[in-house]
Amino acid sequence: MRIGILTGGGDSAGMNPALRAVVRTAWQRGAEVIGIKRGWKGLAEGDHEIMTPGSVSGILGRGGTILRTFRYPEFATEEGTAPIAKTIGDLNLDGMVIIGGDGSFRGATKLTKEFGLPVVGVPATIDNDIPGTDMSIGFDTALNIAIDAVDKVRDTATSHGRIFVVEVMGRHYGLLAAQTAIATGAEEVLLPEIPFNIDDVARRIKEGYSRGKQHALVIVAEGAGKASYITFELQERLKRDVRMVVLGHVQRGGAPSGYDRILASRMGYRATELLFEGKHGVMVGIVANKFKTSSLEKKTKVSPKAVLRDARLMEKLV
Ligand code: F6P
Repeated sequence: MRIGILTGGGDSAGMNPALRAVVRTAWQRGAEVIGIKRGWKGLAEGDHEIMTPGSVSGILGRGGTILRTFRYPEFATEEGTAPIAKTIGDLNLDGMVIIGGDGSFRGATKLTKEFGLPVVGVPATIDNDIPGTDMSIGFDTALNIAIDAVDKVRDTATSHGRIFVVEVMGRHYGLLAAQTAIATGAEEVLLPEIPFNIDDVARRIKEGYSRGKQHALVIVAEGAGKASYITFELQERLKRDVRMVVLGHVQRGGAPSGYDRILASRMGYRATELLFEGKHGVMVGIVANKFKTSSLEKKTKVSPKAVLRDARLMEKLV
């Protein structure tokens, strides 16, 4: 058996331990593993290497992905798809494990449906916006990076009595921002799923200062609005020092947390087993600490219910 493995979309901490688990599990089963470099673009260009347990030694604690990755929107077009079909034929693959987020799962579905290639997906994205699993690989690490950063910002915010707007990643889904806010006791959280009125935000911050608060932390998900705009508007209304921190890609890098290392190792192992069991067109998930298999399809949008629930919980906590 010849298994291809690819990491696609935005990287997340834990992709390496997932790769390691796939290679080692496949190797123990006597399969050959072909690592596709630079995600879908590398697949289109036939960029690959043979992987052995030696190729994945020492990567359990390394951030990013040793296979590297690439945004490849061309896969949605005919011109972008044709070279991928060619590589799959040339490499004579019997199946693939795709590690990535919703965009990669759309690609994986295409591989199964259009080329009949057995594929299993492993959810890896700091957004944690993929249904079928409690956690995606990289979310825990990104959350902890954001918490650490906001804790540090709070120290200086309190010293100066300032307001800080901290922008957290998440263009379409606000869970990372919501959980960062809950875990840091932030005064405000602005999410793409919940419309907000900047006058109300300013009023609540003002009331907080009147009650004796020494600072205000406003966590903004990338998709809720530009931190620079929110900073400017708050400064205008409150006539106080407002500073801004954009965490950006810092949240995607660094060593995976212990949680992500274990999650990734379990998922990588199970995904490979599923291929050998002949179950494909599916993704592996872990729900309530048990493996769960679900369809790769219809993964593009998740209900924001979880985010709303977290946000409501936060209202009670502040
Ligand atoms: O999907 C993961 C993610 O980190 C989002 O949170 C963010 O909006 C996006 O990727 C950023 O993408 P890029 O690295 O292409 O700028």
